Amino acid sequence: MQNNTFSTLFIGQNLIKLSAVDSTNNYLKILSSNSEPLPEGTVIMAEHQFAGRGQQGSVWMAEPGKSLTFSLLLRPSFISAEQQFKLNMLVSVALNNVLLKYLPNGLTIKWPNDIYVDDRKIGGVLIENIVAGSNIKQSIIGIGLNVNQTFFDGEAQVRATSISQILQQDVNLMVLLSEICTQIEQLYLKLRSGKDTQLRDLYVSKLYRLNQLAKYSHKGEVFEGIMEGISEVGLLRIKPLNGKAVEFGFKEVAFVWE
Ligand code: BTN
Repeated sequence: MQNNTFSTLFIGQNLIKLSAVDSTNNYLKILSSNSEPLPEGTVIMAEHQFAGRGQQGSVWMAEPGKSLTFSLLLRPSFISAEQQFKLNMLVSVALNNVLLKYLPNGLTIKWPNDIYVDDRKIGGVLIENIVAGSNIKQSIIGIGLNVNQTFFDGEAQVRATSISQILQQDVNLMVLLSEICTQIEQLYLKLRSGKDTQLRDLYVSKLYRLNQLAKYSHKGEVFEGIMEGISEVGLLRIKPLNGKAVEFGFKEVAFVWE
């Protein structure tokens, strides 16, 4: 479906709205591997995503019609495989920038790319890249954002929130999607033209628990440390109370809740 309502150059111009799908990431992956080339910036959104996937094999649940569940196709061949964390930074900073308009207080990015309000998760990102040679050939960026959902099940009850739960007011999903596409496009075009000098600093400045003493766990052991930032390739740098700073990969460290 061609979309003429977003004021973007390419992101979201080819917008495919599905009433129900297992996962928009899966759907976009299959569509992009078909012989007909899909335009860069294609967005697949689902009203009901019934088997949404999260990071590290987790599931992403969203009440049908109440939240944003969508995936975006990019071909960032100008980004090397080694620098792929730039995409994580770009998307989480873009989401943060858009949400700031609605939620001016307490908004942070929980490394690597969860969107938090105070101590609760409001959004998550699942980026699936295909690398060719030393560069990224294709990136499927899946975004789940809790918008008008006010009831959360199970563990999410204590750890999740939504825009409407905070504002006590519903937000228009298509307007929000359009704002996100616009913001991602702006940052993407900057990155593509080599003018991304502030992206890393912006990302780090928004990190949840930055410069705070907090608890983490590594290989089953809990330790206290201060988050100092990230490495060149996006590893999380934490300085334990009694020791030198250590850099952790995604599966190597977990945030411990008090
Ligand atoms: C996470 O925080 O664990 C990442 C969640 C990503 C969820 C989104 S919803 C749209 C897209 N399709 C999926 O199956 N997952 C992503």
